[in-house]
Amino acid sequence: MVKQIPTDLDFEFHARGIIFIDILPSLWLVYVILKSVRKKKFIMNEISREILFSRAEIEKRVKELADQISKDYAGKELIIIGVLRGAFIFMADLIREISIPCKVDFARLASYGASSESSGKVVMTKDIETSIKDKNILIVEDIVDTGLTLQYLVGWLKERNPASMKICVFLDKRKRRKVTLEADYVGFTIEDGFVVGYGLDFNEQFRFSPDIYVIKQ
Ligand code: PRP
Repeated sequence: MVKQIPTDLDFEFHARGIIFIDILPSLWLVYVILKSVRKKKFIMNEISREILFSRAEIEKRVKELADQISKDYAGKELIIIGVLRGAFIFMADLIREISIPCKVDFARLASYGASSESSGKVVMTKDIETSIKDKNILIVEDIVDTGLTLQYLVGWLKERNPASMKICVFLDKRKRRKVTLEADYVGFTIEDGFVVGYGLDFNEQFRFSPDIYVIKQ
């Protein structure tokens, strides 16, 4: 029997085999991680939301609200205060449907941070720049949820002694209300659920959507 003496080439194949066996599990792990990240992104952008109000329904309701506001404030001077960031789209649509002259200003308040739950702590990062003493004020918000943001703003503005102050919200989510707060004009009342689109965001995504969606858990 002739014993085969391993050549340099045999050693090379053997070494390659060991390397392949060693790195195979790592490659598999990387593949699994990348696949799950891609799946998550896909769910976030494409699947996990369902339409709640279409742009046509929104348009119709905005017009109705604007008609009512125009009627109620006919012959009066009106200052509309939008709450950034969420209200910017609703407010832009609303003021273009209101048929009486009005002035606008903005305050910036934040409560949600980067999650889908309100932090409960309201922070004002931009005050209004208009004098509202003895003026009729209409606060415009995209949504009232716990009510903490509007409660804070109402208290803040009341100290400037406006002649009157009313609230217009596009969405009224009543279930998680923590304070007594009723809006004077409401687009739609909704159940609990995280809504996005038409100015409302989740981690700054979806504000641009012309329709309103509810995120599915
Ligand atoms: C949202 C929304 C309201 C507030 C309502 O703002 O635009 O301002 O939360 O919640 P509340 O009734 O529980 O206080 P957010 O703090 O997310 O900031 P944003 O407007 O910049 O999105």
